Amino acid sequence: MSRATQSMQTKKDAEHSVGKLLLPYYADHWRLFALGLICTVAIAGIRYWFIDLIKNVVDAAAVRDRSQLAATALLIVGVHVIKWFFMYGQIYLISSATNRIAVRLRNDLYTHLQRLSISFFERAKTGHLMSRMTNDIGLVQNSANSIIQAVSAPLIILALTVKVFMMNWKLAMVSLILLPLMSYAMVKIGRGIRSLTDMLQVKLADIASIVQETLSAIRIVKSFSMEDYETSRFEDENRETYGAAMRAVRRSAAMVPTLDLIGIAGIAFVLWYGGSMVGSHEFKGFTVGALFGLLVALEGISEAAKDVGRINVTYHQTMAGAKRIFEVLSEAPEVSDMPGAIPMPPIKGHVEFRNVSFSYGIGEAALEDISFEMEPGSHVAIVGPSGAGKSTIANLILRFYDVTDGAVLIDGIDVRKVTISSLRKQIGIVPQETMLFSSSIRENIAYGRIEATESEIIEAAKAANAHDFIMRLPEGYGTLVGERGIKLSGGERQRIAIARALLKNPKILILDEATSSLDVASEAIVQEALERLMSNRTTLIIAHRLSTIVGADKIIVLDKGRIVEMGTHDELLRRGGLYSELYAVQLRVHPQEYSEHAPAADISGG
Ligand SMILES: Nc1ncnc2c1ncn2[C@@H]1O[C@H](COP(=O)(O)OP(=O)(O)OP(=O)(O)O)[C@@H](O)[C@H]1O
Ligand SMILES: [Mg+2]
Repeated sequence: MSRATQSMQTKKDAEHSVGKLLLPYYADHWRLFALGLICTVAIAGIRYWFIDLIKNVVDAAAVRDRSQLAATALLIVGVHVIKWFFMYGQIYLISSATNRIAVRLRNDLYTHLQRLSISFFERAKTGHLMSRMTNDIGLVQNSANSIIQAVSAPLIILALTVKVFMMNWKLAMVSLILLPLMSYAMVKIGRGIRSLTDMLQVKLADIASIVQETLSAIRIVKSFSMEDYETSRFEDENRETYGAAMRAVRRSAAMVPTLDLIGIAGIAFVLWYGGSMVGSHEFKGFTVGALFGLLVALEGISEAAKDVGRINVTYHQTMAGAKRIFEVLSEAPEVSDMPGAIPMPPIKGHVEFRNVSFSYGIGEAALEDISFEMEPGSHVAIVGPSGAGKSTIANLILRFYDVTDGAVLIDGIDVRKVTISSLRKQIGIVPQETMLFSSSIRENIAYGRIEATESEIIEAAKAANAHDFIMRLPEGYGTLVGERGIKLSGGERQRIAIARALLKNPKILILDEATSSLDVASEAIVQEALERLMSNRTTLIIAHRLSTIVGADKIIVLDKGRIVEMGTHDELLRRGGLYSELYAVQLRVHPQEYSEHAPAADISGG
């Protein structure tokens, strides 16, 4: 995966800057971390003390001092009860900090995603973004363990090393030589694991993206009988995750036994060399108990050293996750409020495109030198072949994108000079494909004006010719639709969208192919609703079916991003250009739709 190799190359400097970005999140909870540190110091202190207790127990056993034996054994239990509380506190405090950090990161990420421009979502894969929200945030959430290890392991190593030196410096020196050996092995193995787990995380994001894509297009998959193809595509990708996971496992599986082996070699050595020192002249107080205590201390040191090895791995996992999160967080919205942007005053409804050119970034310009005006309350239609740039014009009015050249003005104000939300609040759109949220019909209609009253909602539904079919649903306006509710037909969905737009009561209305997917009978119902919706509003109608726009005040004919003709239906027919050609073709294909609008004589001129 090229994405994976790329991300690994820039790793070092990336981690540095990610650390900087992540730090404020952790710094917010410094009190929790400080309290956690206190617990950690206490735990290290108890570990230190425990070595003495072990020595005392063994020595008491050696001289058969029953009461001393019992007292020390009891003390050991007592000390560990205290340690229990410190360990509980340590885990609780640090985990609560990292969980809070995860919640805030998730909120920040979601808030940021909501703010990003349409163009970002065209580039990004939804599955990858979902993986950022779940897997990568999960890595940060789980960083509690590595933080605890990172702080407590060095402390324990320090405490126990001091202890070992105080007990028998000579033995300590020789046995501690083993430590660097262990850390060398760990660093060596750990480095490999790190890049492998990175690869795995990237693979998981790819999988999420396949699942998301195919599930949301499941109708297409099924209608083309592509289930087997999709399954095998998925299996291939999934097999690769197995490969990536197992490569990491092979590395990490070797790590633990390798360290274990080195540790056992050390213990055998201490038993042999240390055993010969017991009762010697050089080390007077070096009893069997001391040898025992020393072994326990060395074991503790090597355990802690293993933890240090794991920190290396988990630290880099956390950083890699955080890096992917901050990649999204550092995306700036391409379209954003200018400094000092004012709220759009109540719109009267005048729209002007002034020498507008626009390009989506790659490829040739989608619009070139477009100029036209829409008078308040007028109905302007845009027609033209597919790909001519019709939807692009709608996108620019809504400011989904900013123009490359020229300006879009509403009531004489450049749309870039006003805040985006105040602009979009006053523009309604009935899109070709209506998306319904998985909630009630009521909530779907009120989307965009949550505060609307029940009677306003019903009124809008009635005007949209939707009330009757809604009342026939099992729970009327409370019926759940969308993902886990009742499915509606295309025409019903469009009428919901019209009710939604009516309720918003916008001064400017955009209808992008609002009736294109309907049969003639349901189109008539929707058309009637649309006409109600269009009255008294500046309306931009994008349509392929010319029968729906013959009554428009102005028709703009677009071709390859340029305006080629402009005028009323009759004017354009008389001119005999592209419009009259398109009209003649449609008349031949669907004669019944045009019978009431256009006498045949008009067309013969075209
Ligand atoms: N998001 C996008 N990114 C890049 N190019 C785009 C994007 N959307 C549209 N285009 C390109 O811009 C041109 C105009 O597209 P537009 O969607 O405005 O056409 P249209 O007239 O609405 O066509 P249709 O009638 O098929 O809906 C096309 O060449 C298209 O490929
Ligand atoms: Mg379009």
